[in-house]
Amino acid sequence: MDSRKLYEIALAAAERAYAPYSKFRVGAALLCSDGTVFTGVNVENRSFGLTICAERSALVTAIGEGHKDFAGIAIATPDSEYPVSPCGACRQVLSEFVGADFPVRFGNSSSSFVDTSVGTLFPHDALHELSGSGKR
Ligand code: THU
Repeated sequence: MDSRKLYEIALAAAERAYAPYSKFRVGAALLCSDGTVFTGVNVENRSFGLTICAERSALVTAIGEGHKDFAGIAIATPDSEYPVSPCGACRQVLSEFVGADFPVRFGNSSSSFVDTSVGTLFPHDALHELSGSGKR
């Protein structure tokens, strides 16, 4: 699947976000090496700190379904005026399962996005060798 299609899936997923407090919807689409795509959305809570990000939602869904080999992720924030990159926590959690060259596309509309990598977003990951590369 090409990155444009994956990104459109993320944009569509954002419609399903539960974000009544921030009004900031986020959709993520995580592509597995076998072509399976898992989506995730941000799910907020009236106890604000319990909010779950879209990226981690997609990732934990995939892991729970037995997938650990990933090919790329797309993240869409249609309520922002510019592409918004993944939060620090999501960068760390994603890095548990993918390498530095893992492709990340984030954007706010079909025509406004940034292509980057986990290594760029989360550099100098000295602890990566302790993670088992997510293979356990
Ligand atoms: N959010 C995500 O879902 N992913 C990110 O990487 C950044 C932030 C959500 C959390 C909250 O529901 C809303 O966006 C505003 O921070």
